[in-house]
Amino acid sequence: MYCTRKVTEDIVWVGCDDRRLAMFEGVYSVPGGVSYNSYLLLDEKTVLMDTADWAVGRLFLENVTQELDGRKLDYLVIQHVEPDHSGTISDIIMRHPEVTLVCNEKTKGMLAQFYENDITERVLIVKEGDTLCTGRHTLTFFMAPMVHWPEVMVTYDSEAGVLFSADAFGTFGALNGALFADEVDFFADYLKEARRYYTNIVGKYGAMVQSLLKKASGLSIKMICPLHGPIWRENIAAYVEKYQLWSSYTPEEYGVMIAYASVYGHTENAANILACELRDRGIRTMMYDVSVTHASDIIAEAFRYSHLVFASATYNGGIFVSMEELLRDLAAHSLKNRTVALIQNGSWGALSGKMMKEILSGMKDMRILENMVGINSSVKNDQRKMLEELAEQLAESVRREKEALA
Ligand code: FEO
Repeated sequence: MYCTRKVTEDIVWVGCDDRRLAMFEGVYSVPGGVSYNSYLLLDEKTVLMDTADWAVGRLFLENVTQELDGRKLDYLVIQHVEPDHSGTISDIIMRHPEVTLVCNEKTKGMLAQFYENDITERVLIVKEGDTLCTGRHTLTFFMAPMVHWPEVMVTYDSEAGVLFSADAFGTFGALNGALFADEVDFFADYLKEARRYYTNIVGKYGAMVQSLLKKASGLSIKMICPLHGPIWRENIAAYVEKYQLWSSYTPEEYGVMIAYASVYGHTENAANILACELRDRGIRTMMYDVSVTHASDIIAEAFRYSHLVFASATYNGGIFVSMEELLRDLAAHSLKNRTVALIQNGSWGALSGKMMKEILSGMKDMRILENMVGINSSVKNDQRKMLEELAEQLAESVRREKEALA
């Protein structure tokens, strides 16, 4: 049975929740599920904004059929070819052979790569600033390359003041009936997943997100309709402000995130001592065991905090495996502009600190503190003293950076 909600008088959400997906993109756990949003504009012409993943295809197609209520589908706007949004295009074409696909040139090429259908005959190519009048509404298309794929575009409906924002402003988590962000306590309950979504999905492309934000700032936006997560119609500025911080790699919290890899607990002990010393100095801390917490959560926290400490045992002559994976993932996500300290441990041939430094040195604007703390097996008085000194140095740095911001 169909399950839809009205967005405005003539725009309907026809998307679906998926709570059975374990790993989004095969990488990111989604314990709260995910929504695949699609919107149907019922103007003099009918326009479907993107489709949905095949996993929810049956309900999605039923939703579209129900809301069309016997009308033909005139246009399908394809903002993003990633299969979580294009997976049911073939089915839409089969059911609505009259449909015109509205997309850009890059999208056309990508569709041919992913799908068998010959779509050449039914494509209307649009470029930056092109418009499509559907009756009362006029849609304007803006290219948003690399937010999150090169073909991405967003669509502005000037009549309704709606920005269909593709992956931008999305969130992990099923909607659970709450289509609008103002129907939940978003900043208390959803922000963590929104940050994890942003940093892991588009975090690498901050400059492109900034460019999209600049374009959007020139529009009169009453509502943002993303492809995942709730719609924004209140307090939009607060969420845009988060996007400004994330996309400019500006920390949200001035404090220290400590990520550690410990085999028998001694590296963890060093990390705990450092955290206690920092708290004694009034500095906010957060700690993660990289063997327990998924890298996507730690990446989100690394984007959040101003200062990062990585502590790792030496393992097989290198960095402990889950720490190496985290650091390479952070580098791949192009995190920048952080102050970093290192702790290495090794019962013999300690090398993890040197190798962690090599990875971090390849990242932009990373200020790596010189005095790395070295432990040989377990923490002794000498190393405790070094951890206290490191806490003092980090605390001063946190205060200094925070003051510089004020
Ligand atoms: Fe939700 Fe980049 O697809």
